[in-house]
Amino acid sequence: MLRKWWHDKIAYQIYPKSFLDTNGDGIGDLPGIISKLDYLKALGVDIIWLSPIYQSPFVDQGYDIADYYAIAEEFGTMEDFDALLAETKKRDMAVIMDLVINHCSDKHIWFQKALADPEGEYADYFYIRDGKDGCPPSNLRSYFGGSCWEPIPGTGKYYFHMFAKEQPDLNWENPAVRHELYAMINWWLEKGLAGFRIDAIINIKKDLDFPSFAPDGPDGLAACWKMVDSVNGVGDLLEDLKNHTFRHYNAFTVGEVFNMKEAELPAFIGEDGHFSTIFDFSAHCLSNGEHGWYDAPPISFENWRRAIFESQLKVQKVGFEANIIENHDEPRGVSRFLPAWAQNDAGAKMLGTVSLLLRGIPFIYQGQELGMTNNNWHSIDEFEDINTLDQYRTALEAGLSEEEALAVCARCSRDNARTPIPWTDGPCAGFTTGTPWLPLNENASALNAASQENDPASTLSYYRRLTALRKSQEWREVFTYGRFEPAYEDEPAIMAYCRVMDGTRVLVAANFGRDTVTLRPDYTIKRVLLSNRPTEPENTLTLKSCDVIVAECCLS
Ligand code: GLC
Repeated sequence: MLRKWWHDKIAYQIYPKSFLDTNGDGIGDLPGIISKLDYLKALGVDIIWLSPIYQSPFVDQGYDIADYYAIAEEFGTMEDFDALLAETKKRDMAVIMDLVINHCSDKHIWFQKALADPEGEYADYFYIRDGKDGCPPSNLRSYFGGSCWEPIPGTGKYYFHMFAKEQPDLNWENPAVRHELYAMINWWLEKGLAGFRIDAIINIKKDLDFPSFAPDGPDGLAACWKMVDSVNGVGDLLEDLKNHTFRHYNAFTVGEVFNMKEAELPAFIGEDGHFSTIFDFSAHCLSNGEHGWYDAPPISFENWRRAIFESQLKVQKVGFEANIIENHDEPRGVSRFLPAWAQNDAGAKMLGTVSLLLRGIPFIYQGQELGMTNNNWHSIDEFEDINTLDQYRTALEAGLSEEEALAVCARCSRDNARTPIPWTDGPCAGFTTGTPWLPLNENASALNAASQENDPASTLSYYRRLTALRKSQEWREVFTYGRFEPAYEDEPAIMAYCRVMDGTRVLVAANFGRDTVTLRPDYTIKRVLLSNRPTEPENTLTLKSCDVIVAECCLS
């Protein structure tokens, strides 16, 4: 396998709005990020992914871009951004930005021009179609609820949007659109950006007939991903994108890809694939509800472990995936993937270990290194996220009580991951001197960076040891390129695997169960490299509840 500069890197996602505010407006900003670069460096971070910082009305928290060439004033200025690039470079770190090019904001000048003249040049930058007998052109339901088609007043025409109505989809079939987007991408890469996380990218290929599908809900609509599933040819667009942009810069690209056709994995992430990597969402998709969050199935340990193993075994034949526990669209992993008895420091360390040592590129989401959890939410009014408000309505329409619908949102909301980072135990957790845009997590006074900073037993200190191990001279090779081999699959509460390369074998074993387990001596431990046990790690395969060990070993 051809080696690439990103294979052995550790990435960290920053959600700028919630990271650190330095000007008291309650919203995180670029100077805040710059002031924490040493913190990130000490955590072992090589690549920083910034969720969108472009100018935006923030209907979908910046995933609705009004100007691709401007920094949102809430976050700072282009000078701040250039300073961030310079400061990261000094520390041998790279920055990637979010690339949101399936859609833009309805406030983008292209869309404003399209609305002003729905027959003109800019109308063809979007998908604008005539209605059918006074109804929308098809019955697709957007990801955020309601029809994908929004009427253009006074015209009998509609425009297409797969997300909010303020996020009109761009017409990728129009060469002028592609040309504009490629120029913009290259402009950022010329500036010194290392690459992009590419948003919702599978959606760019539309079925230009825009057919209707069998309704799948009481609203008579059908989920828009059904069109994504049924259409072919996204690969041609993705190759065109890569060949006009990323390829010339050796850029690191990570695609947000759901609904990929299984056979297309090599085309996406194989040698010279469309992207450097894509996220592995296989564990997250286990809780996809048929109709929404309200009927989301719980995730069993067994299904979670199987999903990860299957994905690791499949992907290692092809390329690299990017491994996450959580991101800005997901609830916190500690609250989601750990059983009740493991939702504590030891559990957070255990989950971090088994995730970060998988084969692939680890992405840590801000606050994960502190063991952040979901918040306690008391009212639907506390949420800001457009998707959460839609899911609340959907749950009520399905007959849930207000209390039940709130519980659904408390469990599943994206805002769980978006509460501000608690830096200290002071006022507003040191996040802002103003009023935070979203409530702080209720546990912020106990769970914060300052209290963990100098505590060798903290989750933060443990994460530093974990990333240091992964990147150490001695072990980086096996953790980067070593084969993945499941272990102890017959043990009902053990998550264990080996990373194997040439004569080296490292066992990672964690006990997600409530009881102590003594593992079969399939392996002889030579040396324990890391463990979350409070006392000095002994060379034993007896794991108490929430224990994890990483050990050099050989087959017994
Ligand atoms: C992606 C983003 C999400 C956003 C959506 C629309 O899924 O991660 O936050 O709402 O795309 O841009």
